[in-house]
Amino acid sequence: MDTYLAIASKRDWRNFAGRAIPADVERRILEAGRVSSSANNKQHRRFVVVDDPALRERLAQTVYAPANVLGATLVVAVVTPPGEMPAFDSGRAVENMFLAAWNEGVVSVPNGMGDRDATGAVLGLGEDEVVRIVLSFGYPAKPRDPESRSTGEWIAEANREAFDQIVERR
Ligand SMILES: Cc1cc2nc3c(=O)[nH]c(=O)nc-3n(C[C@H](O)[C@H](O)[C@H](O)COP(=O)(O)O)c2cc1C
Repeated sequence: MDTYLAIASKRDWRNFAGRAIPADVERRILEAGRVSSSANNKQHRRFVVVDDPALRERLAQTVYAPANVLGATLVVAVVTPPGEMPAFDSGRAVENMFLAAWNEGVVSVPNGMGDRDATGAVLGLGEDEVVRIVLSFGYPAKPRDPESRSTGEWIAEANREAFDQIVERR
């Protein structure tokens, strides 16, 4: 898929089909995160894939929308040390994972948490580690085709602030 079309058509999606994600597709998604750039190439991040059903159930209870985790095929917690740059870097890695997934027809949504420490405790993290976000991936319950519209059409229908409100020149 063209990169700009992938970016323009990517939406966060919460309704997943039960179909399994093949191992090679899952690997590409995770590699997209691993290969992402980071400040000074510190790579301060871990991607915790939550496979165990009981653990996933407990994790789901710590995010704002448990159904996003319970219904997902692949669940990944992004873990970093505290601090501003790891937070920024984790955002870069997450979006690369999302776009790599979308390129494979896999949709995704990030999950916020009311209490990061509670999520960290469920995952057995140490005190110097922070769960930045929990990611849900899966094939969409209703097929979605990025090629069905042009990049301009995808952008026009996105629920976003107007270009001139976001982009300034000084
Ligand atoms: C940091 C962050 C946390 C989010 N947390 C949640 C969440 O807990 N549950 C959820 O359903 N969506 C969550 N989202 C998804 C946003 O609601 C979504 O990005 C926004 O509504 C735009 O959606 P769209 O790309 O489909 O237009 C989160 C997004 C971000 C960036």
